[in-house]
Amino acid sequence: DFVPSGRLLQPSRRTKEMEEKQKLLVLYATQTGNAMDAAERIGREAERRACPVSLLPIDQFDPSSLPDQSTVIFVVSTTGQGDTPDSMKRHLSQDWLQAVNYAVFGLGDSGYQKYNFVAKKLDKRLADLGGRPIIEKGLGDDQHPSGYEGALDPWMSSLWSSLYQINPELFPKGLNFIVPDTELMGQPKVIITYHASNQAHLLLSDTSDLDSKAMQVEYARLMSPAKFPSDKSRPHCWLRMTSNSLLTRADCGRDVRHLEFKFHSSAVEYEVGDVLEILPSQNPDAVDAFIRRCNLDAEALITVQSRDVADDAGAYPSRVPIRLKTFVELTMDIASASPRRYFFEVMSHYATAEHEKERLKYFASPEGRDDLYQYNQKERRTVLEVLEDFPSVQMPFEWLVQLVPHLKTRAFSISSSPVAHPNQVHLTVSVVSWTTPFKRKRSGLCSKWLAELDPQQGVYVPVWFQKGLLPAPSPSLPLILIGPGTGCAPFRGFIAERAIQSHSGPTAPILFFFGCRKEEDDFLYSDFWRFHSQKGGVLSEEKGGGFYVAFSRDQPKKVYVQHKMLDYSQKIWELLGKGASVYVAGSSTKMPSDVMETFEGIISKEGGVPKEAAVRWLRALEKAGRYHVEAWS
Ligand code: 2AM
Repeated sequence: DFVPSGRLLQPSRRTKEMEEKQKLLVLYATQTGNAMDAAERIGREAERRACPVSLLPIDQFDPSSLPDQSTVIFVVSTTGQGDTPDSMKRHLSQDWLQAVNYAVFGLGDSGYQKYNFVAKKLDKRLADLGGRPIIEKGLGDDQHPSGYEGALDPWMSSLWSSLYQINPELFPKGLNFIVPDTELMGQPKVIITYHASNQAHLLLSDTSDLDSKAMQVEYARLMSPAKFPSDKSRPHCWLRMTSNSLLTRADCGRDVRHLEFKFHSSAVEYEVGDVLEILPSQNPDAVDAFIRRCNLDAEALITVQSRDVADDAGAYPSRVPIRLKTFVELTMDIASASPRRYFFEVMSHYATAEHEKERLKYFASPEGRDDLYQYNQKERRTVLEVLEDFPSVQMPFEWLVQLVPHLKTRAFSISSSPVAHPNQVHLTVSVVSWTTPFKRKRSGLCSKWLAELDPQQGVYVPVWFQKGLLPAPSPSLPLILIGPGTGCAPFRGFIAERAIQSHSGPTAPILFFFGCRKEEDDFLYSDFWRFHSQKGGVLSEEKGGGFYVAFSRDQPKKVYVQHKMLDYSQKIWELLGKGASVYVAGSSTKMPSDVMETFEGIISKEGGVPKEAAVRWLRALEKAGRYHVEAWS
């Protein structure tokens, strides 16, 4: 029987070597979950061909259990600036890889400079170690009109035929055998238990409102199949919003907010450059509509656990029942994300109207991929809208819990310094909004929710603190900062902190390049920068620093931060010579690579060296930990 992802293999139940030998092993390293989705898809497609398969996160795999002549498919993602997923760092340096037949599929974004860097690096390492490639590596690209799946489908079809040639035993029923759709559905991988109505109240009634909410957040997220493992390792707390003001001119087309928060209880220690993750609240109307559409009992008390108890036991033995509605609110992203392709596949199974079934099946098939992309991703259909478009589908709650996108925290660069503003945290949030191809207005769940919060109402926000990619600089480190738009957020903290430090001793200069559209519209924190650029300020030219703005739309020709950098190339070069570190932050995918190229040009010109030497010089700067980038989209 085909059973959907998850049951395919559990590490604790790994079978003996002989049995393992005839299995296809799929290992994935994921940062955001996309590589896991892709790996699960490969797993399902293998099972459809009656090919036995094991699916594991790479860090849960024990290389010593691998028999000779194994066949391993790696699915790895590259995020941001070419960072290797945390789960993979250790495994890349092991030599268990040498005896495998392998294939690599990478997920990346060609908008970034180090496109699919991790996949390329792994592929090379496997080849260097003597591994035998089954097929050329596949590279999925976020920029492709249908996302990474645009490359995955064709790559998989070559994979099956090449695999069959190398190891026909993997396909006991032949290459062309496909399990009929009617036999495809298995059980969902979660189990929901319903409890008597007095149980949860007992546990939660003694606690204050916020404590009770905190417990619900914790229990709900621990029970979710996503498990949000990283929640545990980071300091969690509640912040009270104390201020919410508009930084941009009203109706100028951009809505950027300055938000201030105070710690609810004791302050969590953080540094400038750190990142705050926020769990957004969902629109209550959407949650209610979802519950109605799916015929769920909002008040039911539930616990959720993995069917695969072996891998689950001990992780959180004392499960506390919570209201079904609370679970939905805190873990299931009803209104903001496009559901994955598998959602459509499972829906097709539960459709009772024939035309709906046909359409859903088409969407889930390789032929329907581009149409699904247009319908789903491009148009940003929400789960609720999709369910409403196919009214005959009535999916069991277990499937919904498994397949509805998980409600994720959203990360923001902190824009305050704890030294300048003790007990406070500031954020600079751009409210994301756009129009879909069908001209529907959409906005980002978290930024819109934050923007609409009224501090007078006593609002508390659940947050987690995290280290970002921008390490806090010491006062004696000269800085070259490039932060157009909301990229200025971390640097507001840097500059405020250095201003305080400058009262008690000498500090190194700061050059800051800022960019926005128009001086009148979105010149964020203009007074703050001007204040610190005055005589004696940390950005003042007299102290060796500087503050330069590129207004991109105040003249016919675009002017960006890069152009301003060229105007001051000598100053940049001198500061680099004094040991400056470079920090780049911002929301444009192309900006970081444009800025890096500009640096190469400046080093070549001012240093009087050929471009290649400048490129090497910059790489060395990166290696020495003196070039940092935090980019978001
Ligand atoms: P634009 O919107 O007029 O193109 C903050 O978003 C600022 O960054 C805006 O002025 C924006 O200009 C600019 N920007 C857009 N793409 C950029 C890039 N590749 N490099 C530098 N700045 C960019």
